[in-house]
Amino acid sequence: MKRFIVTGGYGFIGSNLIRLLLSKNYKVLNIDNLNYSAQKYNLSDVTNKNYKFEKIDINNKSRISKILKKFKPHGIFNLAADTHVDRSIDNSYNFIKNNILGCYSLLESIRTYKKKVRLIHISTDEVFGDVALPKRSREDHAYSPSSPYSASKASSDHLVNSYVRTYKIDAVITNCSNNYGPRQFPEKLVPKMIYNIINNRPLPVYAKGKNSREWIYVDDHCEALIKLFFKGKSGEKYNIGSGKNCSNIFIIKKILGAFKNKKINIGKKVKIQFIKDRPGHDFRYALNSNKIKKSLGWRPKTDITKGITKTVNWYINNQKFFSNISKKLFIKRLGVL
Ligand SMILES: NC(=O)c1ccc[n+]([C@@H]2O[C@H](COP(=O)([O-])OP(=O)(O)OC[C@H]3O[C@@H](n4cnc5c(N)ncnc54)[C@H](O)[C@@H]3O)[C@@H](O)[C@H]2O)c1
Repeated sequence: MKRFIVTGGYGFIGSNLIRLLLSKNYKVLNIDNLNYSAQKYNLSDVTNKNYKFEKIDINNKSRISKILKKFKPHGIFNLAADTHVDRSIDNSYNFIKNNILGCYSLLESIRTYKKKVRLIHISTDEVFGDVALPKRSREDHAYSPSSPYSASKASSDHLVNSYVRTYKIDAVITNCSNNYGPRQFPEKLVPKMIYNIINNRPLPVYAKGKNSREWIYVDDHCEALIKLFFKGKSGEKYNIGSGKNCSNIFIIKKILGAFKNKKINIGKKVKIQFIKDRPGHDFRYALNSNKIKKSLGWRPKTDITKGITKTVNWYINNQKFFSNISKKLFIKRLGVL
């Protein structure tokens, strides 16, 4: 039976990945330092004996090295990171610490571990910066990050690449587009809008809401990550995207539509409210994901209407997810200079 470590496993993508790995009968060790975005609720119903959790910071090299010797993983999915662009604008220290130094520390533990282990390092399309229409960035597109968050992710990608070239570690780097789905911290667009609709609050959107992102349902991303563990080529990078770009305003209207279809009364204060743009805000990200489609046969399965409906249903049925989080952490606008 294959054994996997998932770092950042109490976060949004990590918790969905752990559920998928367990459903495929793999053994999983979740390593998370329980940062502000970690949600115990995300895995509170998991009783599978193949699942374990250890509270460890990936910066703690000696503990990670001990865990590698003890758990003997076949693969490590590295999702531990600070992830909110607006927070990185206010203070980038944690992004440097967790995303760059944390990745470096993890790489050192892998380098000095005597056994074979494959690292899947999860990164973002934001490393490519703004991509003008009609272009879509391929894996060899130049990195041009615009925020401290995307710069820290770009740095970690370069570090992983350098450890493959220099120390011959086995690693694959993935660049994925905007994920949406259950269990996402409500500082991000989709769960924030859902929270505000449920709680009769305005729906703030940057500038005119026209910024374009490629939206992928989280389970489609997680399926791609598992495929890449088994079939990805060591030392290579893979884009993971749905191929479908939507503006933020389109996404908000889809969410409102999903509420209306459920015949839920929407409060009077629920109105789109245009707010001052985020500093350095990239207008458009768009990936060319032909490589993973052609070489691995991966395809995203969830279209945006079905995905948003599933997502809205999950948050409506799991309102405890929101009530477990301190409002101070997601109500106030961040990233204003
Ligand atoms: N969410 C997206 O749309 C998206 C898209 C592409 C790539 N990614 C990447 O996927 C990864 C996961 O993103 P997410 O949205 O699930 O983030 P998230 O903020 O929901 O979760 C991050 C998790 O990492 C943990 N963590 C942070 N620093 C740590 C450390 N030093 N040691 C151990 N654990 C630590 C946190 O406690 C949290 O549980 C990130 O690397 C992110 O850059 C996210």
